[in-house]
Amino acid sequence: MTHIVTENCIKCKHTDCVAVCPVDCFHEGPNFLVIDPEVCIDCGVCIPECPIDAIVIDDDKKVSDLTYWAQVNKDLSQKWPVITVKKDPLPDHADWKDKPNKRDLLEK
Ligand code: F3S
Repeated sequence: MTHIVTENCIKCKHTDCVAVCPVDCFHEGPNFLVIDPEVCIDCGVCIPECPIDAIVIDDDKKVSDLTYWAQVNKDLSQKWPVITVKKDPLPDHADWKDKPNKRDLLEK
């Protein structure tokens, strides 16, 4: 089991999640964060911290494309640097909150 950052984080990147993670499992890309599944301990403290509900547990039945996002988190966590300190969200985050079909906007 692990936790997974999903599509709604794209172009928002609030980073409240990183401030509470006890094992520093978040990695930062240009417009998205991912969780390293090998480091996440499934404590769940990050889930309520995300203001746009972008983080889910990996057996969340409400998320249809969870397998895709699990692979994205796994792959990009090996490529991107760890982030441990909260920063400002992306400037136009409010415009992108809950927008559908952001997948192709993910900058790798
Ligand atoms: Fe993304 Fe939410 Fe963290 S928008 S950076 S998962 S607080």
